[in-house]
Amino acid sequence: MTGTTRPAYAGTKPPRLADDSPGFLAQIGHGWAERDVVAPVDAAAARAAAEHRARLSAALPGRTIVIEAGWAPRRNGDANYAFRPDSDFVWATSCQVEGGVLVLTPLPGGHDAVLYLPSPARPGERDFYASPAYGELWVGPSAGLDAWSAALDLPVRPISRYAAPTDPVDAGRVLSDLRMIKDDWEIAQLRAAVDATVHGFAAVAREVPHAIAENLGERWLQGTFDRYARTFGNGPGYSTIVGSGPHAPILHWVRCDGPILPGETLLLDMGVEATSLYTADVTRTLPVGGAFTPTQRAVHDLVEAAHRAGMAQVRPGAQYSDFHFASMEVLVHGLADWGLLPVSVDEALAPQGQQHRRFVVCGVGHHLGLDVHDCDVSEYEQYHGAPLAAGMVLTVEPGLYFHAHDETLPPELRGIGVRLEDDLLVTPTGHEVLSEALPIDAFGLEQWTLEKTR
Ligand code: GLY
Ligand code: MN
Repeated sequence: MTGTTRPAYAGTKPPRLADDSPGFLAQIGHGWAERDVVAPVDAAAARAAAEHRARLSAALPGRTIVIEAGWAPRRNGDANYAFRPDSDFVWATSCQVEGGVLVLTPLPGGHDAVLYLPSPARPGERDFYASPAYGELWVGPSAGLDAWSAALDLPVRPISRYAAPTDPVDAGRVLSDLRMIKDDWEIAQLRAAVDATVHGFAAVAREVPHAIAENLGERWLQGTFDRYARTFGNGPGYSTIVGSGPHAPILHWVRCDGPILPGETLLLDMGVEATSLYTADVTRTLPVGGAFTPTQRAVHDLVEAAHRAGMAQVRPGAQYSDFHFASMEVLVHGLADWGLLPVSVDEALAPQGQQHRRFVVCGVGHHLGLDVHDCDVSEYEQYHGAPLAAGMVLTVEPGLYFHAHDETLPPELRGIGVRLEDDLLVTPTGHEVLSEALPIDAFGLEQWTLEKTR
């Protein structure tokens, strides 16, 4: 406010933004209608979490287990990043409340489960208006502990009564191993995440002409997907990768500060994280303009052959590493045919060789679930050294990455990067490609791109 009238405090100390003035305290504490807030979790999610706790209990008999939701990391000052709960906590509770703690206390024949949650600060409490973390005037209405208890069919107590057990087991590896096999509810979540991601790819492709015409660049497409993911899920399941032309070979190009180059390829690696926090992880490399050049197409064809060879290995009982090696073998043959290897195919494929990895330094896939790289604290024997089993969900994602500044390459290959990434469910008899709505062959991708961008 400006003007000629002197405020009452002028000439004295400036006022504190006091929350303790008698007038304010008399005014803030009353006159608020009761609100009934239901916990944001449905019965199927609550049942899935109860079954997960039963599996965890059976895996760690006699041990005290503590799983914490965690806290949003600090961004700066008193501003935090958006909160995203720990995935083990979500798996075992289907609850996403910041600061929650699940405690499983051993009993004869199982465990007693108690969930500790911060109580939302309601009218009549100081935090109602004074706590940016819990005050309903700051964060909006939140379900109370009774509502959570009813929704989860679990005792829920205030976090103020939580006393950390002295002897909790380190359950990280066991949780990682258990989370590898998805149940029907989790598979439904992953299907929904993948379906939303497929629609998100179309939403991004439709923006390509606009991004080029207005010189909006990779960031516009990254932002388009992130907005889509936020609208139809919780958000992107990992930092969205949009790589045009020479950025496509850069594995995690999340900087996205380049233009969209007509005539070049556009690598899109994107996944919607559903509101249940299960995420998809899909990659396609599109021909901007709708037609691959002969060289781009040749690279894409080789990656497609490697992708098909890898996916063909995905079935229960196969070794996890089979799909990796099947894809790599195809790539090695192709690279050798193009004269890009300094050694023979056999020498490159030998464990002491691996010269081809210059063009593909990453693995060919990973488990997928609540985390994009799910279950990655499991030991080698449970993950890379284990057989596949029905209920696992994996990505298969071979690629070839010919960097623009790689002087060993013929000039026409420099700056081409191609990855194909699909999400596969291991079924009792083989696999299902959850992301099969997107084409994987060059011709199909050309048609798809033309359809979305015209
Ligand atoms: N899509 C990102 C990754 O798998 O690393
Ligand atoms: Mn991936």
